[in-house]
Amino acid sequence: MTQDEVRRHLEFYRDLGIKSVYRRGARSSAPGLAPEPKTLSLPPELSVVPPLEPAHDNLLKIVQDIGDCKRCRLHEGRNRLVFGSGSEHAKLVFVGEGPGADEDEQGLPFVGRAGQLLTQMIEGTARKEGISLSREDVYICNVVKCRPPENRTPQPDEMETCGQFLYRQLLAIRPKAICALGSTAAKALLATKDGVMRLRGKWHPWRDIPVMVTYHPSYLLRPYNQNAKKEAWEDLKKVLHFVYD
Ligand code: URA
Repeated sequence: MTQDEVRRHLEFYRDLGIKSVYRRGARSSAPGLAPEPKTLSLPPELSVVPPLEPAHDNLLKIVQDIGDCKRCRLHEGRNRLVFGSGSEHAKLVFVGEGPGADEDEQGLPFVGRAGQLLTQMIEGTARKEGISLSREDVYICNVVKCRPPENRTPQPDEMETCGQFLYRQLLAIRPKAICALGSTAAKALLATKDGVMRLRGKWHPWRDIPVMVTYHPSYLLRPYNQNAKKEAWEDLKKVLHFVYD
């Protein structure tokens, strides 16, 4: 494995929140030992991990790999796994937190009240800005694919387990931009503790793809968040012009 491949592997695990990896047999270069070769060989426990971006990855392969997932506790309460919906060739991907009750029932992301608002925001803003775009043209998915009990926030280990599939979805689609809806999506993509208020309205990188963070539509449904609504519309305008102009 080349140094660049090792670096990309380690970056992937850092993005998943894994802060350290254990390297069995690591040794410092003691006097008299041959210099470290330029090409590193991975320690055995890392060399068996599956490739991060399997060759010719696509959404169908990712769905097949997820299968009837029981990798974390969230499967226990789900009715349906919610993988994502929209175009595999989308130039724009929206990432939410996790399915709610309606999504769990239908197996589709953002189909409840928050989803209706998201659809209105996408299609209404595009129309006002003279951009021809419908919900089917973008791709919509979540950080976790199964509904957390009582709609609680996904826990770090659940995000870590499901994160590999979110990353594969994003890498398979390779959109021009990603819009992270709310703090869970922002944390999953940007490995930051900063909140949405601080992150929103600016571009941040995930790999080489620009990410715009904005408020989660559920937050915008609360009656006292009218100012946030205006800000979210501004964020979305920025995203749409960046992607479709
Ligand atoms: N909230 C989310 O974050 N995702 C959905 O799919 C629905 C509501």
